[in-house]
Amino acid sequence: MPTPFTTLRIRDLDIPNRLWMSPMCTYSADWDGAATGSPNDFHFAHYTARAAGGAGLVMIEATGVRADGRISPYDLGLWNDTQTTSFGRLALAISASGAVPGIQLAHAGRKASVDKPWLGGDSLPEDSRGWQSVGPSTHPFPGYTAPAELSHAEIAALVTAFAEAAVRALAAGFQVVEVHAAHGYLLHSFLSPVSNTRDDSYGGDFEGRTRFPLQVIDAVRKVWPEDLPVFLRVSTTDWIAENPADDRPSWTVEDTIEFARLATEHGVDLVDCSSGGTAPVPIPRDRDYQTRNAARIRSEVAVKVAAVGRISDPEWAAELISTGHADALFLGRPLLRDASWINNAATTLGERPRFVEQYDYAL
Ligand SMILES: Cc1cc2nc3c(=O)[nH]c(=O)nc-3n(C[C@H](O)[C@H](O)[C@H](O)COP(=O)(O)O)c2cc1C
Repeated sequence: MPTPFTTLRIRDLDIPNRLWMSPMCTYSADWDGAATGSPNDFHFAHYTARAAGGAGLVMIEATGVRADGRISPYDLGLWNDTQTTSFGRLALAISASGAVPGIQLAHAGRKASVDKPWLGGDSLPEDSRGWQSVGPSTHPFPGYTAPAELSHAEIAALVTAFAEAAVRALAAGFQVVEVHAAHGYLLHSFLSPVSNTRDDSYGGDFEGRTRFPLQVIDAVRKVWPEDLPVFLRVSTTDWIAENPADDRPSWTVEDTIEFARLATEHGVDLVDCSSGGTAPVPIPRDRDYQTRNAARIRSEVAVKVAAVGRISDPEWAAELISTGHADALFLGRPLLRDASWINNAATTLGERPRFVEQYDYAL
């Protein structure tokens, strides 16, 4: 029976434990000049502290595959050589602290071009740090400016942009790449009929809506080494089908199960199960609101599954792993509060924390 501190092997990669740092935007990169989108001193301190704090894997926040794919102008990006070099130093520092370095590749789609959340998060106009957002259709996310509908040529260019960013991530030394297809960003916005009302081959039925995300997965898998894993973050549900008062067509858990099966056939090794993001709807308040969907996907699809969301108790984390709800757990806000949450959880659970060698011999 695995514990949170049992090694997890995926393809030829051994991940030293199953408690991982969830991708979390920090909106802290330069927005113009030579270092635009590059990790800086803040990112180094932030990520290496969590690696040294015991995380088995550190997933870098949503990183734009292109400038217009960033959520805000302050996001990380991976479309030029300066960024690749800087990410190389960061990946090395994470590895040196004992964690597997991973990076989440993203395009924000119709939720792009907004200010930092702590400055209000408003849509930024094109003449003030912003840009025209894009999407499957022209419906805006409520409160945001309307996206431009992507043409087939633009979709093809975006598939290439994901693959090129994956090539750069590999060159920088990352061992895991995660395709971000959750939270209402570009790939999820194609999956969900809430945001995708196209009537061409990239819309309509399930096959049409999954076409672009599967093309991205294929393109990334093609450039990512056979011996290293590709992860996929999904929203398991839009939380619309669960609400009897809301009869809009939406992305459901059943859709996710079918999509996870297809993604696995296309080379995805782990499905990272989040939820929501295409529409402002009520989200359940119970503790297992996301982990129960992860468990369902794990029981129905032959793929590794990570759960995330409101996991802030070491004993519950241990239960989720030992009962097979998930193969691994991503931790978000607990690691913002406490960079050593995972080492402290090890102590609580009677396991030896994983200190970096500079501390370990002395403790
Ligand atoms: C500040 C912040 C930034 C986030 N940025 C991202 C992101 O870049 N990519 C992503 O997939 N999820 C992002 N999330 C979601 C987290 O990865 C995680 O799924 C969510 O916070 C639930 O986990 P928690 O309850 O442990 O915080 C973010 C969450 C927070 C709090």
